[in-house]
Amino acid sequence: MSEIKVGIVGLGRLGKVHARNIAFKIPGAKLVAACSIMEAELQYAKEELKVSETFTSYKEMLEKADLDAVAIVSSSPCHCDQIEKALAKGLHVFTEKPLGVDVEECKKAEKAVEAHPDQVFFLGFMRRFDPSYSYAKKKIEEGAIGTPYMVKATGIDPEAAVEGAIKFAPTSGGLFIDMSSHDVDLIRWFLGSEVKEVYALGANFKHPEFLSCNDTETGAALFQLENGGIAELHVGRTAAHGYHIETEIVGTEGSIRISPVPEKNLAILYDRYGARQECVESFPERFDEAYLLEMQEFIQCIIEKKKPKLSVYDGTRATEICFAMKKSFEEKRLVKLGE
Ligand code: NAI
Repeated sequence: MSEIKVGIVGLGRLGKVHARNIAFKIPGAKLVAACSIMEAELQYAKEELKVSETFTSYKEMLEKADLDAVAIVSSSPCHCDQIEKALAKGLHVFTEKPLGVDVEECKKAEKAVEAHPDQVFFLGFMRRFDPSYSYAKKKIEEGAIGTPYMVKATGIDPEAAVEGAIKFAPTSGGLFIDMSSHDVDLIRWFLGSEVKEVYALGANFKHPEFLSCNDTETGAALFQLENGGIAELHVGRTAAHGYHIETEIVGTEGSIRISPVPEKNLAILYDRYGARQECVESFPERFDEAYLLEMQEFIQCIIEKKKPKLSVYDGTRATEICFAMKKSFEEKRLVKLGE
């Protein structure tokens, strides 16, 4: 097969990362078109990425550009509609998380994917492609920690980015919707079971602004899984030291901890504060390799006509669980999935 011709929609914080990967780092793929509602971003695509065709309208990109696939990295409320339109046009689809901004939208995306079984549909839960997470999964499958029965997950954004989070809070859907989907996906993946019920709490000690829009600065949730497994999740916005993503999987014969210190690299600084490791500061820095590996896999799925391991239903499930967490937090009670 000749090169896979890809059009990207969304060239913001993450869109630029995916666009650079497709344009320069993935053999077998070619970035031929880009769409954004921001003119400056289209200028960037022309000048820096050498993309010949740029569009401010997604519909127009689908009609006019010669494409095999699209990468959807636009704002979350656009995803579902853009997925449906691209599939209807006969294109393969990569979409960023979340699949949809509510469960109803996710179900619509499921129907669209089911109606096009021969086209690749790829959901961007990139942590599954991060080398440390995929290594942990492999060790678990090999039996290294016996039967996994507990996940302890931590996902805290840097305090340095909190002003943006406060500004975005009234429209973000809240901490549990905005921040938890990757961890929820990992909990299901590592424990090999579905979440049955959840109890979530919030705390606000630093930025009362979150309270004024019924959001929370810090969240904690406890999950019961159908196979008897348990999980806990700590999400927040105020890590003083950087971008803290940490996961521990506990099994009957041992445990695996991924990134208990979110180190920038292997260098240790010896100075007047002591001996210390600097930390990663953002998601593009921490998951740079994972974004590349997942896009490579998307292109390979198209070339080899294989089904991605992640499915559209994983996207719906994550959204359902995040909404159950939000409900639990708001109603201060245990929530059963599907109630
Ligand atoms: P952003 O706000 O920086 O960029 C949004 C982009 O979407 C802009 O280029 C904008 O022009 C474009 N856009 C918005 N509406 C559009 C429309 N109607 N037609 C065409 N283009 C449109 O957003 P960011 O942070 O890059 O996030 C994009 C998506 O990626 C979101 O869905 C977000 O949830 C997801 N994301 C995933 C992460 C991950 O770790 N997998 C990390 C960060 C974001």
